[in-house]
Amino acid sequence: MILTGLAVIASCCNTKPEPFSVIPLPNEVSIGEGAFCIKGTKIQLDEALDDASAKAIGRFVRALETATGRKTRVGDGGIEFRLNPDLGSEQYYIKVETGGAEVEAADANGFIYACETLKQMLPAAIYGDRKVKAAWVLPCCEITDQPRFGYRGMHLDCSRHFWSVEETKRYIDVMTAYKLNRLHWHLTDDQGWRIEIKAYPRLTEISAWRDGTVVRKEWDNNDGIRYGGFYTQEELREVVDYAAERGITVIPEIDLPGHMVAALAAYPELGCTGGPYKVWERWGVAKDILCAGNEDVFTFLENVLSEVMDIFPSEYIHIGGDECFGGDAEPERPDPWDVCPKCAARMRELGIRKGPEAKHYLQNYVTARIQEFVNSKGRRIIGWDEILQGALAEGATVMSWRGVQGGIEASRKGFDAIMTPYTYLYLDYYQSKETDKEPFAIGGYLPLEKVYSYEPFDGITPGAESHILGVQANLWTEYITTPEHLEYMLLPRMCALSEVQWCDASRKDFARFDTSLDHTFAILDAMGVNYSLDCRGLIGLDRQETSNENQPD
Ligand code: ACM
Ligand code: ZN
Repeated sequence: MILTGLAVIASCCNTKPEPFSVIPLPNEVSIGEGAFCIKGTKIQLDEALDDASAKAIGRFVRALETATGRKTRVGDGGIEFRLNPDLGSEQYYIKVETGGAEVEAADANGFIYACETLKQMLPAAIYGDRKVKAAWVLPCCEITDQPRFGYRGMHLDCSRHFWSVEETKRYIDVMTAYKLNRLHWHLTDDQGWRIEIKAYPRLTEISAWRDGTVVRKEWDNNDGIRYGGFYTQEELREVVDYAAERGITVIPEIDLPGHMVAALAAYPELGCTGGPYKVWERWGVAKDILCAGNEDVFTFLENVLSEVMDIFPSEYIHIGGDECFGGDAEPERPDPWDVCPKCAARMRELGIRKGPEAKHYLQNYVTARIQEFVNSKGRRIIGWDEILQGALAEGATVMSWRGVQGGIEASRKGFDAIMTPYTYLYLDYYQSKETDKEPFAIGGYLPLEKVYSYEPFDGITPGAESHILGVQANLWTEYITTPEHLEYMLLPRMCALSEVQWCDASRKDFARFDTSLDHTFAILDAMGVNYSLDCRGLIGLDRQETSNENQPD
């Protein structure tokens, strides 16, 4: 046995480790001389570790065994995982010496992130599914690491285009590798309702399907192809559990009272006009929304949200609230809330004075009623920053998307906020100026460096920073139809986001990040996940070479 161990050490320990290129960069790292060979290493687990931590370490060990082709053994003298209650939430400590490694954390997320850091210090093949001959050594180092923000989100729109459970799990896998911890799942919108609600079967029979989709932005051109899909409650729970095992909370969004045309197609009595409505086949902002004067709407929403909260254990439930007014498809038509007798009666009952602001106060009423219901179940609401217009009830969290102003205003007024400004964090925007080489996108221009440059405290009133819970990027999928394209838009921009979310501002350095990306590209190759190489001058899904003169400035 001893001889075998020595032979292993002799076979790989004089091999140099990978250059240190962990993303997001840990907050305290010192790299020493030498390395520790982990091929066939021993693994020691503290008996006090909870199931979630042990499972995370188990996944790491299986990845190690697959990639090295060598079984690990239980025992001292290899990698020791120890519970350290003195560390903070999500914090971890790693010490690697030539004779072994110690890993400490206080909770499952700490161990999950320690394992991800260990994986990123190893050859990229650790992310693959086959044995690879490589330098299976960890550099001698000491790392103490914890995130800057507690909320590190990524959003996914499965309404405009639908992503299978397997595709969604891959999305979660890349989020895990870069230490994100919230998946904001946009489950409902005008173009498709994706969540099974047992009390309302027509939401999946009718609302989950559209009869066609507009071609690009040619508003009069429809492909006529029936499109849709939904997740059963069992599938939703499977995704929730899969994410939870990786330290990710799934936050469901039921967008209300706007972005509800798909639901109205099935239950037209919930709209101001009574319909008929069709699941929307074009993009943009629809005029028709839920009627705020109809009590049945509140019964519907409470029943839907009850099932949602049963499936999703998340503290936060996202209730949307964006773009309720001024629908762009029918510019001449008034907003339904401005002309609906039931909405007018509700405004009178509430003492809301007539005028351009009236509908914002009526939206406040809807938000407050839903907030009260969600709170009564021990949960909290998040809404897009439109919920701030008028008078928002205490305790709501605001997601700032129309730039940073919503987050600045919310935090100044004492509301918690999550920063997701379109100006830095809308990953549906083009990432190169050579749009003719890019897959068709909604517009905009958001290169990698711009995402990386975002500083969430910029403009925040001094003293209000503690209200900024974190940062999230959004990926709307109107023009994204395949997982290859989805991943192309996501990566590597999500990796830049991860440093905004994780690293202290003083640790950020685009040149170092950009160099580290080469290892990330190898990791993504090993995972079989697509990504953009626009930042390397290879533009488009099929990675066309670009001339220097044409490179974005
Ligand atoms: C949004 O982009 N409508 C939140
Ligand atoms: Zn109405």
